Amino acid sequence: MELLIKPKDKISGQFHIPGDKSISHRSIILGALAEGTTEVKGFLHGEDSYSTVECFRKMGVDIDIQEDKVIIKGNGLYGLQEPEDVLNAGNSGTTARLLLGILAGNPFYSVITGDSSLRNRPMERVVEPLSKMAAVFYGRKSTALLPLSVLGGNLKAIDYISPVASAQVKSAILLAGLYAQGVTSVTEPYLSRDHTERMLKHFGVEVNKEGGKVEVEGNPRLTGREINVPGDFSSAAFFLVAASILPGSSIKIINVGVNSTRTGLLDVLLEMGAKIYLENERVENEEPVADINVEAAELRGVEIGGKIIPRLIDEIPVLAVAAVMAEGKTVIRDAAELRVKESDRISVVVQELKKMGAQIESRPDGMVINGTGQLNGGVCQSHGDHRIAMAMAVAGLAARGETRVTDSDCVNISFPEFSKALKAL
Ligand code: S3P
Repeated sequence: MELLIKPKDKISGQFHIPGDKSISHRSIILGALAEGTTEVKGFLHGEDSYSTVECFRKMGVDIDIQEDKVIIKGNGLYGLQEPEDVLNAGNSGTTARLLLGILAGNPFYSVITGDSSLRNRPMERVVEPLSKMAAVFYGRKSTALLPLSVLGGNLKAIDYISPVASAQVKSAILLAGLYAQGVTSVTEPYLSRDHTERMLKHFGVEVNKEGGKVEVEGNPRLTGREINVPGDFSSAAFFLVAASILPGSSIKIINVGVNSTRTGLLDVLLEMGAKIYLENERVENEEPVADINVEAAELRGVEIGGKIIPRLIDEIPVLAVAAVMAEGKTVIRDAAELRVKESDRISVVVQELKKMGAQIESRPDGMVINGTGQLNGGVCQSHGDHRIAMAMAVAGLAARGETRVTDSDCVNISFPEFSKALKAL
């Protein structure tokens, strides 16, 4: 599939966006480990969350996907079955890494793989701590890459100091910690998204937090729950930027997750001069939710780095588009993690925006953008990365002339209705 984007003067309207991907994965995982039934509304019907569903089905969990809800009949913490076949996490790093934590805790043999992008993404960041907990792994490149085989069970609790601020690493260890004797803790350099901690609480598990450290005690009881998944802030991000850079725009996105570990883009856009305000703020199943209003604004460049980076890591491709359309220089530092996402998002963003005439250069840990307020239409590639495809579509709206984004089926990973949503605006 190809996205054909015509320049737009403005976008306007009120709409919902699909469910949060991170929360959708976790609703399946914790629902499967709980006792009783979990009913999930607002679930993301996307390829990534379906990968998690398929993996748990292979371990004997009954998951019924309906249009408006997903029903999981939990097997309890110790009720997963040894899968008969290889588990496939597809394109989803969250599925692979969180599942590795659970497989580490279970006394059976399993093999997990993924698509060609995921098979090249680093797994040692979870294999190393999980091995310290006594799980056994075999795999390519000394267990650095998928496919990996896992022999789990009999875990020891650890106190792990993570070198990266990664929710996937933190979550894998905490999930393994549910199966370990004693208290498992993870300390991270900066706070990464905390959906696992919040959802564990929602399922009745005690989670202690102190500074940058999170702890769980092994052998808890999880009880099935109702979950309302809010709209995904990372999907809203494309419209936050589009409405900000297209003069005359005015939009309202209803029911979006605004957990502060995810909304770094909001803070940065406000610093750049954006006109965004939240309405109807509330908390649902431990997660902050709001409606987001955006009006077009004249943006100026900004310098970012340090602890805000994990709070906007997935939004940097579209933030780069905002920076090109802003006045002045933008510098993004401390974001080397972008190089090990679904694609090397530093190289790819720079390469694709350059094709459209942007003044943008890569750095080992980020990029420098000279905002000119101008882009030209052209042919862009997604590199098989959903967030690149959508970021380039937003660039196309603000460009002079038509833009084509090739190989854009990958939007189905996180936002299958993306082109429909754009057309409606
Ligand atoms: C995610 C964590 C982040 C993020 C990814 C989803 C999660 O990855 O980039 O899209 O759901 O836990 P890292 O943990 O690798 O930073």
